[in-house]
Amino acid sequence: MATSPHPEYDAQLFPEILQNIHLGLILLDIEHEEIAFCNTQASEILALSKLDCDYHAFYGLLQTAIEQLLESPEDHEEKTVENHGERFIGYSLTKPANGQYISVLMQDITDQKRMDSIAEAAVSMNNIGYIFSGIRHEIGNPLNSIKMAITVLHKNMDRYSPKEIKVYFDRIFEDIGRVEHLLKSFKNFNMYESPKNEVMDLSDFIMHNTQLIAAYSGVKDKMIGISVDVEPGSEWVLVDRRALQQVTMNLLANAMDAMQENPEARLLISSRALSSNILLEIKDNGCGIPPETLQDIFKPFFTTKEKGTGLGLALSKKMLSQMNCDIDVTSIPDMGTTFTISIPKARSYEINAFQNTKQEP
Ligand SMILES: Nc1ncnc2c1ncn2[C@@H]1O[C@H](COP(=O)(O)OP(=O)(O)O)[C@@H](O)[C@H]1O
Ligand SMILES: [Mg+2]
Repeated sequence: MATSPHPEYDAQLFPEILQNIHLGLILLDIEHEEIAFCNTQASEILALSKLDCDYHAFYGLLQTAIEQLLESPEDHEEKTVENHGERFIGYSLTKPANGQYISVLMQDITDQKRMDSIAEAAVSMNNIGYIFSGIRHEIGNPLNSIKMAITVLHKNMDRYSPKEIKVYFDRIFEDIGRVEHLLKSFKNFNMYESPKNEVMDLSDFIMHNTQLIAAYSGVKDKMIGISVDVEPGSEWVLVDRRALQQVTMNLLANAMDAMQENPEARLLISSRALSSNILLEIKDNGCGIPPETLQDIFKPFFTTKEKGTGLGLALSKKMLSQMNCDIDVTSIPDMGTTFTISIPKARSYEINAFQNTKQEP
C-alpha cells in the first residue's frame, strides 16, 4: 500500500534516493520538451547503449509508448522493451497527474534476455528432437512395409502369378509415394532459416495473397467468396515478408481444405491495429476444429487429413515466434475457424526510413 512521506522528512532525501537507486529514472518535461531529471543509473544505461541523453532522441525512441500514454486518459502505465545494438532495455512509463511530465523507469535486462533465449534454444532443440523422432516414424513405417513386401516377393517369385506380383508392387509404390510426399513437404519449408524483420506494407501483402488464393480457387474449380477488410492504420508492420508468406499460404491451404465440403465457402482476410501490434486474421467457414483437438493442432505431425503431414502449423508457429509474432486460433465445429497472427507494428521513424529508401532512384 502506498503511503505519503511524513511531513518532517528532509525534502532533499527523495531526490538523493532517486539519484542513487539501481533503476534508471528519467523525467521528461513534455511541455518544455526537455529532460527534467536523469539519475546516475539512467545515464549509465544510456551511455552503455550508446544513446544520447537528449530529449528529442529519447522521445523518438519511446514515441509509440509515450503517445499511447498521452492519448489515453485512463492508461497510467506503458511498458516496452527496446533493443539497442546488443543491449535490451526494459522501460516502464508513467504519467503523473499534472500532465506536464512523463516518468520513465529503465532497467538493463540484457542478461535476462540472454537467459530467455538460451532457454528458448533448449526448447527448440527439444522440438528438433521431436521432429526427428516423427520423421523416423513417418519414414520408418513405409520402409518396413517395403522391406516386408520385397521379402515376400523374393521368397515367392517362382510361385506367384503376375497378378499377385502386381499387388505387391502397387503396395511398394504406394509406400514410396508416402515418403516422397513427406520429403516434398519439407522442401516447401526453409525450416532452419532465420527470418529477418523489415518494414512491410501489410495491405499490399493482403492484396497479393487475395489474388493468389482467387487464382488458386479458380484452378481448383472451387469457387470461394473472398472478402478483405484492412482497417486504416493497420498497414505498417515489422516482419520477414517471405516467412510470413509461407505461413499465410499454409493457413490459406488449410482453410481451403476445411471448406472443401461447403458449397458456400467464404474467406475473410482482415487486419486491425492494437497499441503495439497489428492483427492479421484469416477466417473461414469450413468444418471447424473440435475443442478437444484444438490444443493439438500446433504439434508436429498432428493431422486429420489422409495425405496431411501435420507440419504446417507447427513450423508456422516456430517461424512466427522467431519474428516476434504470435498465432492464435478460435474455432466452432461446423461453423468455421479464425487464425489470428499478431505482428509488431513498425514505428514512424522506421516507416519514414523505409519510404525514403523507396523514393531514392
Ligand atoms: N482452417 C482449419 N479448419 C479446420 N481444421 C484445421 C484448419 N487448419 C488446421 N486444421 C487442423 O489442424 C491440423 C494440422 O494442420 P497442419 O499443421 O497444417 O497439417 P496438415 O494440413 O498437413 O494436416 C489439420 O489436419 C486440421 O485437422
Ligand atoms: Mg496444412
